[in-house]
Amino acid sequence: MYSEIVMDHFRNPRNAGRIEDADGIGQVGNPKCGDIMKIYLKIKDDIIEDVKFETFGCGSAIASSSIATEMIKGKSINEAVEISNKAVVEALGGLPPVKIHCSVLAEQAVKSALYDYAQKTNKVIKGLENYKPEDDEIHCQH
Ligand code: FES
Repeated sequence: MYSEIVMDHFRNPRNAGRIEDADGIGQVGNPKCGDIMKIYLKIKDDIIEDVKFETFGCGSAIASSSIATEMIKGKSINEAVEISNKAVVEALGGLPPVKIHCSVLAEQAVKSALYDYAQKTNKVIKGLENYKPEDDEIHCQH
């Protein structure tokens, strides 16, 4: 049911933890299942130098956050903001249909952390102009 990549990231999550002096922190929650994902970004010259995550959630949410951190590490903020849950699912080698919303949590957590960074530094990140903090609460379909 789960791909080898999902199992690998679930068992050995990459970049798990927190960054104490993070430049951007994003937290999103899924009110239905109660799962929470937090992303910490360390950014220098608009490049994501370090990223960590804390996820209290299902295995798919942990695997999604783990792979999402790998996908954005070393990228510019403009590249990172383009991360989509579809790209996360593809990188994971697929997720069961009922678990797709878990990957949405990863996309939203990254965007939320970038938004936090943009707010703190008075920057406008292309793609986040219409972002609203209430987007941080995503709604799951189960
Ligand atoms: Fe809630 Fe996966 S994020 S079930």
